Parts: sequence; structure tokens; C-alpha cells
Amino acid sequence: MVSIPILIASPQGVRGQTAEVIKDFIEEIQHAGFRTKIITTPDLSFAACGGCLACESTDDCVVKDDVQTFQESLLISPGFVLATPVYLMGPPGRLKCLLDRFWPWMLRPRLFGKYGAVIVTSISYGAESLSEYLSAILESWGLGVVKPVATIVPKKDDIETRKKNLTNCRLLGRRFLDAIEKKKQLKLSSIGKRLIMDIWRLIQDNKDRFQMSYSYWKEKAIAKRFGI
Ligand SMILES: Cc1cc2nc3c(=O)[nH]c(=O)nc-3n(C[C@H](O)[C@H](O)[C@H](O)COP(=O)(O)O)c2cc1C
Repeated sequence: MVSIPILIASPQGVRGQTAEVIKDFIEEIQHAGFRTKIITTPDLSFAACGGCLACESTDDCVVKDDVQTFQESLLISPGFVLATPVYLMGPPGRLKCLLDRFWPWMLRPRLFGKYGAVIVTSISYGAESLSEYLSAILESWGLGVVKPVATIVPKKDDIETRKKNLTNCRLLGRRFLDAIEKKKQLKLSSIGKRLIMDIWRLIQDNKDRFQMSYSYWKEKAIAKRFGI
């Protein structure tokens, strides 16, 4: 059976709070018989996007590093899980660098029929908006994304928050499994829909520059697949 890649995007990797919080989610999906593969951003060696724009007219990014191996794992799995802390109300720097490298996947989405789940950890603010932003990015790659979970990492004696996180992570696990098993047709989030419509508009308004992506959207009926 193929493993479901779980990206922990904390510089602390498996030692951090994010890894601690997602244990319940992982347990839930392993309990249902799925195998998981944890990948952390510190494990991956990759360059930041240089903005060369070559990917707009070639199949993929011309820079070859761990991004391709990571992308391969997404292409062969029925799902992808992104777990990350909030840094200054946004994603940690290396996660943003990794997501930038997926520009060709936003122009030519290729994960239809697969499912995504997002979990964000924080100490006070920003988790909800980051979870919505990241869900929209994953949707733009073609993934059906289940409603994300935004958590506050509990202080040592805060049993209530700990319980709430556990319940939410298990629920997320069940929603994610249910979507995979029943091949659910998930509705795009409002931010995701706006983002995807903007990308499609950009491509149509600049057919010369985005010729390859324009043909891809037409040939594969991408707008219809997104339901836009
Ligand atoms: C540089 C930095 C910026 C942070 N910014 C925020 C923030 O904007 N909002 C917030 O609630 N927590 C913020 N935090 C706290 C982390 O999101 C929180 O501690 C998280 O659970 C850490 O997970 P990790 O141990 O897996 O890295 C920040 C932490 C660091 C190191």
C-alpha cells in the first residue's frame, strides 16, 4: 500500500509542537489501515524559487533537488497532509520557499482525485487564516481539501485545550479518510475558488506567456474539473 506523505513544516521537525499535535491525527489514519510517511522541511534540501519563469513554458521547474522527489510522493499517494506552525501570521520561511516551487502546479494542476488535509499550530493568533490560505494553495494543485484544523498549543496544565485538539485532530482524520474512501466530491473553499479563478483569468488574459498552461487547461477541461 502507498504511504500518505505528511509534511511537518516546522524547523523543529519531529521534535516540535506541531509533530506532537498531529500524533492523534496520524493514529486515526493508521488505525484505518493507511501507512504514513513523515517528511519534515529540515529533511528536504531545496533551493528557493529564483523567479526565472522557465516553468511557465517547460514541463516543470528546471532546478533539480528534493522538490521533485517530494512531488513524486504526492503524485502516487491518494492524499497529502500538511502540518505547520504559524510564524508571524504566515507560514515558516522554508515552507513558503517550498510552496513557491509549486508555481508550475498552480498553472497546471495535477492532483485531481486526491485529497488534502491541513493542520496549523500556534500559540495565540494567525492559525485560522493560515489554514485557509494553505488549503487554498492545496486546492489550486487539484486536491480536494477537507475543512482544516487550526490549533492553539496548550500550556502544560491546560487539559481543556489538549482535549479540544485531540477531538479536532481525530475528526480531521476521519473527514480525510472518509473523503479518500468514498472519493467525495469536495466543494472548493471560497478563498480557493477565488485563487483558482484568478489563475485561470491570468492564463486567459496572457495566452502568449502562458500558452502551455492555456492548452493544458483546455485539453484537460481543468475549469470544469474545478467546477468553476
Ligand atoms: C519565529 C516565530 C514566529 C511565530 N509567530 C507566531 C504567530 O504569529 N502567531 C502565533 O500564534 N504563534 C507564533 N509562533 C509560535 C508557534 O507558532 C508555536 O509555538 C508552534 O506551535 C510551534 O510549533 P513547532 O514547535 O512545531 O515549530 C511563532 C514562533 C516562532 C519561532
